[in-house]
Amino acid sequence: MSDLVTLTRDGDIGIITVDNPPVNALSPGVPEGIAAAIDQVVADSSLRAAVLIGAGRTFIAGADIKEFGKITSGQKKREIGLHPVLFKIEDSPKPVVCAIHGTAFGGGLEVAQACHYRVASPTAQVGQPEVKLGIIPGAAGTQRLPRLAGVAKAVEMCAFGDPVGAADALACGIVDRIIEGDLLAGAIAFAAEVKAPRKSRERGSKLGHAAANEPIFAAAREQARKKLRGKNAPLRAIDAVEAATKLSFEEGIREEARIFEECLFSAESKAMIHAFFGEREVAKIPGLPKETATLPIRKAAVTGAGTMGGGIAMAYVNAGIPVRLKEVSEEALIRGLSTIRKNYDRSVSSGRLSREAAEQRMSLITPSTTYDGFEEADIIVEAVFEGMQLKKEVFTELDQIARPDAILASNTSTLDIDEIASATRSPHRVIGHHFFSPANVMRLLEIVRGKESSPEVIATSMTLARRLAKVGVLVGNCRGFVGNRLFHPYRREAIFLVEEGATPRQIDEALYDFGMAMGPLATGDLAGLDVGWRIRKEYQHLEKPGVRRALIEDRLCELGRYGQKTKAGWYKYDDNRNRMDDPEVDRIIDEVREELRVKPRAISNEEIVDRILYSLVNEGARVLEEGIALRAVDIDVIYMTGYGFPTHRGGPMWYAASVGLKRVYERIEEFERQHGELWTPAPLLKRLAEEGRGFDA
Ligand code: 3HC
Ligand code: NAI
Repeated sequence: MSDLVTLTRDGDIGIITVDNPPVNALSPGVPEGIAAAIDQVVADSSLRAAVLIGAGRTFIAGADIKEFGKITSGQKKREIGLHPVLFKIEDSPKPVVCAIHGTAFGGGLEVAQACHYRVASPTAQVGQPEVKLGIIPGAAGTQRLPRLAGVAKAVEMCAFGDPVGAADALACGIVDRIIEGDLLAGAIAFAAEVKAPRKSRERGSKLGHAAANEPIFAAAREQARKKLRGKNAPLRAIDAVEAATKLSFEEGIREEARIFEECLFSAESKAMIHAFFGEREVAKIPGLPKETATLPIRKAAVTGAGTMGGGIAMAYVNAGIPVRLKEVSEEALIRGLSTIRKNYDRSVSSGRLSREAAEQRMSLITPSTTYDGFEEADIIVEAVFEGMQLKKEVFTELDQIARPDAILASNTSTLDIDEIASATRSPHRVIGHHFFSPANVMRLLEIVRGKESSPEVIATSMTLARRLAKVGVLVGNCRGFVGNRLFHPYRREAIFLVEEGATPRQIDEALYDFGMAMGPLATGDLAGLDVGWRIRKEYQHLEKPGVRRALIEDRLCELGRYGQKTKAGWYKYDDNRNRMDDPEVDRIIDEVREELRVKPRAISNEEIVDRILYSLVNEGARVLEEGIALRAVDIDVIYMTGYGFPTHRGGPMWYAASVGLKRVYERIEEFERQHGELWTPAPLLKRLAEEGRGFDA
């Protein structure tokens, strides 16, 4: 047995404990340790049953994901997998009871399924989240789970990957008993009660008839195509569960293994594993010691209760942090609060939140038209109109009112954090907290480091992001930071392509088909075209004369076409915000083309995707070289969590590396020859392409 798995005893019950922090992943040594412990239990005549449990914060959270990369890169030989260990558990002549707390995910749940019985603490969660890594369950999860929980539940869990709580797991047969109180003691008591082993693989009664199952598979496929558009693993997971209903158990696991292997080596899986580790990598800040003190955040205050301020207040109270919310007038305050109330009501009516929870969250918001109570806040977030003058005035006030150690965060989307901080006597406590709309939903939080932001303020912001259920990414201070700075050339290129001959719909569809949540022009309509228009006007003086400018969107704005909010932008919209082509837009486009003396040409979808995405990549390389982004993966995470970039493409920088930086660089050079200096390749991209390297190599 290894140190990772120990066998102890309580009377005639053996206790097998997996201890592989932090999440008890099935790293090399763990399966072997479990197998050796089972052998020992079977061989020891004084033991009549065993309990399998995890040490620390969780049961087994799955296979060790790091091992997958070693296999696909050829560093390590693919092994037979977990089957022999699982058969050993299941074939044990002595009952094995699995005790679940925390998360039994992936291979962890598959180990649990091979045990004869399962008990769980009330807060435990079980799941087959493999599809979120672009793979399918690979240790018979698609075969044992339908036998335990029924076909519909198994399809739902294997194809969509969402966790299931203990009560639900009990109801569908995955768990046999919920243990209130001490889990190990409860599991031992349960083991003392059970007489004989019971093999999951032989419990076929829930598999049902082929005809009855067909609608389940058809509905799941349709939902997967819609909800998880562009991803293959969910569809393949459904195929594997379907195999369980048609083949013997042994044939079924062979089919599952074939599909697992195919998925493991796919580009989708590599990208999604990159996304998984990327979200965790961004939390690690080079140069910021792990032991940097963080400030306790018990109370917050937000100034400005508009689109962003309201959403930010919700994000705080959703995490249990009370918020003071200030506005300029009673009227604005009432408007802001009623939007928050409407959002919570919607969550209640859709069943996502209980009425009591919604009321409790509302009660944590204290509205005000003064700064009363702001002196008690550990953090104050500013979300007033975008404008340097106003921001500076507000920060001067906040600096006077706030406790000396409170953090002052600005939600500005473009402005210079250092200039804002200069309005205070304490710039070390000023930082950017750039939330994304809707702030209570979107997972990204760009944390903008000013030149004087203190290590404690940065560390606290990173920890706080996690508490608010956000992915915090630390970025440098420049116009637009990382996300919006890259978004500018991305959208500009889309407009250039319309000027040259593409239709708005063609652009949006090409990017949607690539996997983006929405095309760039439709996104503009959703966010409000006037926002960018105002910024362009403000910064017009910085533009280099003679450099090509995108004109159509300014024309749309001049005509009051701000997007969905005015029911007209790049498209027209009905009362239900359904998008329709608009001949008026065609007319405006024609006018601009005539003015520019452009003869429209047919443009391929390939050119559209290349130009729009490579403009993002080129700017990404600059941002990286300037140190505004710490690593290429930070840019990827920003785009996947804040801008609807598909996880199965791994983010723009990962995507570029998967195409090959040399190829991307050559294409950018070609665009430079055709379109001029806006396409000058970033020096870093040129260097890496010439050296045959990737971004993070
Ligand atoms: N393998 C390797 N490392 C893992 C891991 C895994 N399965 N799960 C988590 N980790 C690592 C994380 O990378 C992180 O490392 P770091 O501290 O160096 O950044 C550390 O463990 C802690 O993870 P989190 O920060 O995510 O901790 P949380 O407490 O927030 O969440 C969790 C815990 C819910 C278990 C979450 O980590 C998670 O969802 N993990 C992945 C679970 C999963 O996908 N399992 C299926 C794996 S595939 C599989 O099992 C195939 C099988 O069918 C054969
Ligand atoms: P908004 O116009 O919806 O809300 C701004 C609110 O601030 C208004 O309700 C206004 O009454 C209030 N306000 C103005 N001066 C104030 C003061 N002195 N004290 C208290 N409240 C005051 O604007 P929105 O969209 O919420 O933007 C706010 C900030 O968030 C801006 O800096 C913007 O750039 C940034 N942002 C906006 C995003 C978006 O998608 N709307 C995304 C990310 C950041």
